[in-house]
Amino acid sequence: MNILEVKNLTKRFSGLVAVNDLSFEVEEHSIHALIGPNGSGKTTTINMIGGVFPPSEGQILFNGSDITKKNTHEIARLGLGRTFQNIKLFNSLTVEENLMVGGHMSYAKSGIVNFFFDFRNARREETALREETHRVLEFMHLEEIAKRQVGGLPYGMLKMVELARTMMTNPRLILLDEPAAGLNPSERRELIDILARIYEGGVTLFLIEHNMDVVMNISHVITVINFGSKIAEGAPVEIQNNPEVIRAYLGDRYNLKA
Ligand SMILES: Nc1ncnc2c1ncn2[C@@H]1O[C@H](COP(=O)(O)OP(=O)(O)O)[C@@H](O)[C@H]1O
Ligand SMILES: [Mg+2]
Repeated sequence: MNILEVKNLTKRFSGLVAVNDLSFEVEEHSIHALIGPNGSGKTTTINMIGGVFPPSEGQILFNGSDITKKNTHEIARLGLGRTFQNIKLFNSLTVEENLMVGGHMSYAKSGIVNFFFDFRNARREETALREETHRVLEFMHLEEIAKRQVGGLPYGMLKMVELARTMMTNPRLILLDEPAAGLNPSERRELIDILARIYEGGVTLFLIEHNMDVVMNISHVITVINFGSKIAEGAPVEIQNNPEVIRAYLGDRYNLKA
């Protein structure tokens, strides 16, 4: 079953065609990577899937239902989470508080009216939210920095906190925009380990990534785009040996064992 179907997606920014008639499917419970040169339309694609802006043309189905015109909040509520190329966290809050804010949206189901008038309900939700926060902090190995203010944390940790916050919404699919960018080798290994564990927990991962060790190690399927159009798709070994992919993107970025 496909958890995500992208059909003939096009995005124009005043004349510039950033994404051009792009179609692909993401199978449920897979790790699927989107790669391509800088400016090839990867972030734009994730932004359309996540509801940041609508496509100029085309359709997006998540879990069988049309999300093409839904906004970021509606899409997050359906179980589609994401991280950003530029980290978006509250610097003055602690790690734990950032997670609680991330989870609040999915937990506050009793709504704003009940939140004030149905105290018991609100209390029950707060307890659930705290429990979930601790579960995610533990899962992500972030308990030690739970009380630290986000503003002072090193970059690698911020990326983990951002991923942890996404986990708070209990997503079925997570979109990750360059999760390994800026990480040192040991942080990269930790990221690969965490992503594998998230996947093993039943979540589907769709990631944009330039680090080929990460991509080739964890992906089941790789879609390659260039100038907004798909140029190849397949398993890592097929992509590594695809002449057009090598010419347009891989070049000597990845050491072929041929
Ligand atoms: N909000 C925007 N307004 C105008 N042009 C944009 C916008 N976002 C991206 N672009 C342009 O669309 C193209 C694709 O960008 P992007 O999707 O960010 O590429 P990638 O993530 O593959 O590096 C680039 O030429 C970029 O300058
Ligand atoms: Mg990008």
